[in-house]
Amino acid sequence: MPKSVWSNQQLAEFLAAVSSCETEASAAFAAVERAAEALEAEVAAIVYGGEIVAAVGYPEGAAPAAELISVAAGGGELAVPGVGMYPATRVALDHPPGGILVLARTGSDGLSGPEGGLLSGMASVTSLTMRMLRLLDDERAAREESDRQAAENARLLATLSERTTVLERLAEEQAALRRVATLVADQAGADDIFTAVAEEITRLLRANMGGVARYGSDQSLTLVAEWHGEGGGLPVGMRLELGNDIERLKGLWSGRPVRLTNYEGMSDLVVGLARELGIHSTVGAPILVDGAVWGSIFVNTTNPEPFPDDTEARVLGFAELVATAISNAVSRSQLAASRARVVAAADETRRRIERDLHDGIQQRLVSLALELRFSEEGMPSHQIEAKRTVARVADGLTDALDEVRELARGIHPAILSEGGLRPALKALARRSAVPVELEVDIETQLLERVEVATYFVVSEALANAAKHARASVAHVRVTTAGSLLQVSIRDDGLGGADPSRGSGLIGLTDRVQALGGTLSVLSPPGEGTTIQVELPAGDG
Ligand SMILES: Nc1ncnc2c1ncn2[C@@H]1O[C@H](COP(=O)(O)OP(=O)(O)O)[C@@H](O)[C@H]1O
Ligand SMILES: [Mg+2]
Repeated sequence: MPKSVWSNQQLAEFLAAVSSCETEASAAFAAVERAAEALEAEVAAIVYGGEIVAAVGYPEGAAPAAELISVAAGGGELAVPGVGMYPATRVALDHPPGGILVLARTGSDGLSGPEGGLLSGMASVTSLTMRMLRLLDDERAAREESDRQAAENARLLATLSERTTVLERLAEEQAALRRVATLVADQAGADDIFTAVAEEITRLLRANMGGVARYGSDQSLTLVAEWHGEGGGLPVGMRLELGNDIERLKGLWSGRPVRLTNYEGMSDLVVGLARELGIHSTVGAPILVDGAVWGSIFVNTTNPEPFPDDTEARVLGFAELVATAISNAVSRSQLAASRARVVAAADETRRRIERDLHDGIQQRLVSLALELRFSEEGMPSHQIEAKRTVARVADGLTDALDEVRELARGIHPAILSEGGLRPALKALARRSAVPVELEVDIETQLLERVEVATYFVVSEALANAAKHARASVAHVRVTTAGSLLQVSIRDDGLGGADPSRGSGLIGLTDRVQALGGTLSVLSPPGEGTTIQVELPAGDG
């Protein structure tokens, strides 16, 4: 076989061996091994970047790095282990760029022409293969990285949308809580708050109906507010004797939420309602006011799917708001009651002072004045000076008596207790410095404290009209409408009344509010002043 054919075949074998390698490193190793074999070299190595990439002909791990690197860089002789020094042959590789394949063999000097051709062919094949493997490696790494990133992105996306859902839900819950909290802060009526809570919680928890129920001291539950979407709901005012059902709802009394997923063994009313309305489960939470269970708030679903795990916690949030609303309302009514007590006590004191003045000092002054008149009459006529003095003292005494009467009237209008509201108002109108048009139309029996309040309102308003308004007339109207007493005093004066500038109107407001009524002052500058009062007339 001619040498060139032989070397072509060797090149083909070399190509097959190197190109079947999967990594750059194993290709480099195959290349030095095959090249050494084909050219009968004892040692061969690839050196690149000051390091040995692959070497054969040396004992394991004992390739002479310094010698190989120096020969790769500048030529010279290589030691063949156990034999001696022989000239080295070098060939540059295109890849890795700057890489050198070096080999040395014993025996004949140098490579023949065909051997040199074979070696440079092998170098080209090695370069190409290593380059291709490097590209493949890079590509694989890039693909792995992009797969990893895609997975990471997918994970991030999933977390993100999960978080978004949670955030949306929280925002929805916050908005619902805020709407109820606003009602609570605005001191809306309890019924409005309860109904709003029932609606918000039903919508929020995707329930079918929700409500607020109040416990009675007789172990009953009364529905005070309810809301439902489509389908039937529960009637507000419905009362449920708890009886044995209390067992299943026990948690509420320890301040914990309760979940019912069936109604077996409960009272006929509960079982019947659940069946009729198709209710599958209920979650309720206690409303605790000042440490005691006031009632509960609950949601029902007709969905066979149970409520999610966090439902209890969310119902509790609303229960706390309801509790705040209730304890606000309780303190408001306690405040009103305490103001009423203060006003009542003050009225009682005034009544007592008025009686003391009337029965004591007034009577005493009257009899003193009479005595003086008598003694004046009985004095001899020549004692002119003395008689005059006594007469002056008697006059002074009568004036003092008038003043005491006036004072007593301001402290407590005795005429009220004696003749009732109508004559008392007439007396006020008569005495007023501003002419008064009085209209009284009372059809209900009024409580005394309501009469007293009305008297003081009219008295102060007329005094203001005289003192501040420069009015030419005042209209006083006192009427009853059902169980409500309405009082209005209107003058045609300067207007611009401002309760914060004095003590009269503020005192009246306190008195009226203490009785559960309202007082408003309408006083645009230049357009007169109207004071309007509404009071619950009787006990009801
Ligand atoms: N009818 C009125 N017309 C004009 N100004 C009024 C009238 N009533 C009250 N005002 C103004 O409002 C203020 C507050 O009234 P009030 O509370 O009765 O206090 P007081 O009469 O003790 O000053 C008064 O000081 C006065 O300036
Ligand atoms: Mg005044």
